[in-house]
Amino acid sequence: MLVNGIDLIKKANKEDFAIPAYNINNLEWTKFILEACNVDRSPVILGVSESAVKYFGGYKTVYNVVNSLIKDLKIKVPVVLHLDHGKSFESCKEAIDAGFTSVMIDASSKELEDNIEITKKVVDYAAPKQVNVEAELGALEGEYTSADEAEQFVTETGVNTLAPAIGNKHGIYDKDYEIDFELLGEICKKVKIPLVLHGASGLDENKIKTAIFCGVSKININTDLQLIWSKSVRMFLQTNPKVYDPRKIIKSGEDNFKSLIHYKNNILGSSNRAF
Ligand code: G3H
Ligand code: ZN
Repeated sequence: MLVNGIDLIKKANKEDFAIPAYNINNLEWTKFILEACNVDRSPVILGVSESAVKYFGGYKTVYNVVNSLIKDLKIKVPVVLHLDHGKSFESCKEAIDAGFTSVMIDASSKELEDNIEITKKVVDYAAPKQVNVEAELGALEGEYTSADEAEQFVTETGVNTLAPAIGNKHGIYDKDYEIDFELLGEICKKVKIPLVLHGASGLDENKIKTAIFCGVSKININTDLQLIWSKSVRMFLQTNPKVYDPRKIIKSGEDNFKSLIHYKNNILGSSNRAF
């Protein structure tokens, strides 16, 4: 069933676990994620970036693929269809109009006042339609979020969840990276809404659990899935150079991909939380 995730994230926040947000890039990944989360009885957020929407063919196509897979595969767990890093009001509106149940407006590269203005416009459009809104404050690579600004931002925009910049980044981490959990805790105390951790690939169990303890209730994972799937497919092609059926090639990444999802759901504590 497609849901907006607001209650799920609130429940996770109260009970100290996190809802996984896995990025989808095609039909097969969507299927793998839905099936693995269904087995785990884990609620799941399917994150779709603007570039992935383009790759799929459009917002409505993504919605139809996800909605149909939920029905055809008889998926019982709650599923959130979420626009990841929407860069403008127009992208968020398009996603909402197509049936997405959750959007992220990422105007974090703009000045605070402009970020507040755009985010509020998205909230005003989304809230009457019961669509969840996530926003970002502080740029992921470089600029840390100020706890005071976060408080002002949340009060003035009315967002449901906030993604802060605390030393986290997308892609593969350098060896000397540092996540500022103290700042995360401070932001959490000030904003009083659930927080979102972007760039969670590559973080070990301890860091994920600390983030959850500090108020994170949605955890975004994309790169780890890309790495495991491409590694598996590369190995399959090397050992099976004569295979040319695309279904066999894409499927060769399925087992390892699903194992990783089970592992992550377990760390996040989202398994057996579907309700
Ligand atoms: O929005 C998507 C996530 O923040 C992905 O982060 O590159 O660590 O998987 P990742
Ligand atoms: Zn992100």
